[in-house]
Amino acid sequence: MPQGPHNRRESPLSTEDWQGVIERLGWGGQGLGRLADGRLVLLDSALALFPGEEVQAEIQIKSRHAEGWVRDYITRDPRRVAAGCPYAGECGGCSLWEAGEAAAELKLAMVRDLLHRQLRDVPDCQWLPAPPDTRRSRVQLHWDGQELGYYAQRSHTLVPVEVCPMAEEPVSAAIKHLRHALRHEQLPAQPDRWELVGGTPVGDVAAVELLDPHRAWRFDRDGWRSDTMPMEHRLGGFQLEQAPGSFFQACPQWAWQALSGLLQEWEVRGETLYDLYGGCGLFSVMLSTALRRLVLVESNSLSTAAAQINLANVVADRNDFAVHCADVAVWLEPGLGSRADVILTDPPRAGLAKPVVERLLTAQAGTLILVGCDGMAFCRDVKALAPAWRLEHLAAIDLFPNTPLVEFVGLCRRVKDNG
Ligand SMILES: C[S@@+](CC[C@H](N)C(=O)[O-])C[C@H]1O[C@@H](n2cnc3c(N)ncnc32)[C@H](O)[C@@H]1O
Repeated sequence: MPQGPHNRRESPLSTEDWQGVIERLGWGGQGLGRLADGRLVLLDSALALFPGEEVQAEIQIKSRHAEGWVRDYITRDPRRVAAGCPYAGECGGCSLWEAGEAAAELKLAMVRDLLHRQLRDVPDCQWLPAPPDTRRSRVQLHWDGQELGYYAQRSHTLVPVEVCPMAEEPVSAAIKHLRHALRHEQLPAQPDRWELVGGTPVGDVAAVELLDPHRAWRFDRDGWRSDTMPMEHRLGGFQLEQAPGSFFQACPQWAWQALSGLLQEWEVRGETLYDLYGGCGLFSVMLSTALRRLVLVESNSLSTAAAQINLANVVADRNDFAVHCADVAVWLEPGLGSRADVILTDPPRAGLAKPVVERLLTAQAGTLILVGCDGMAFCRDVKALAPAWRLEHLAAIDLFPNTPLVEFVGLCRRVKDNG
């Protein structure tokens, strides 16, 4: 069994062995059990945990709860399957190996539990599980100067990998070529994070050293050659460019299908779209037939350069558009928009910064779409915005298969004239 690290926020009062039943799954896939005195035990594991399973764990007792790492399974849920990855149980990238077809059910249970605890009086949450063969076309690996791999769960211990079964085949195959080139100093070999990324459909794979994302390489028969040409994504009849090293959805085809389907079903339309944290323009392009004017705000200059091209190529004959390279918290002014306008926010995992929430509370747009890849941050933002925005539709999408991560999308209507 892997040696699991523990949460270090509070020093442990004591360490001990614990045997008990997983009562439910908490947000992030932690198993929750109880000490004899009723205090909660939060358990991590590199593999899936099923409610109802009895496990043995090493736990650290804190003042109000305990936390630890599962060492062994006393009982195993009959739905457990053999893991389809040689690094399962060590690698922290995907923890739902062994959950097999039950993975979507476990994630839905986590979503329901989170919403029940964090948000009251919200609409039913639509659940969109990932199609079975969904694979990532973008992965980030750590290079420590000798080995290339992923970190173990909640740790900085490197787990070297040669393949990644959750990645599209060409991306997975590029891992060993990247390692070879780093070991032989054919690419900058100082310790760093590297990204391997393909387009849609995946053809060439680019490698980007994340400390210097303005340089990129493509792999061909002769090895890695310097090439900063954009990746191309054909999605929904549109063609989008992405600079290697800038953000793009990890599973683009599935993300497009799920997100565009929802926005259509929710009948999102209007005058101006404010696409905040807009990346290279995925949502602007997706909503270009439903809104007349597109205003995209994004802080990464590689992304805004691509957005400028994407919007010019794809929508210029139909829409007015503007692309701003700026921090949303600085760009956003009080009272943004008017009733026919739509604001869409898709921030990084930490969610909306406080000044952004404050400005959104005074915005005059009639519709606000919140997108978030961390459930806790998403719920916090929905609650903070509640004085001005009523959640009308809610969905959770499995955009990150085999991990406990879920993308939340909420459509809110303005409840009163703000400001
Ligand atoms: C989750 S991605 C979403 C991108 C885009 N909506 C998409 O789906 O492709 C978040 C984006 O926010 C950008 N970003 C991060 N912090 C920002 C900030 N303070 N202001 C503007 N953009 C920011 C990142 O560069 C990234 O492109």
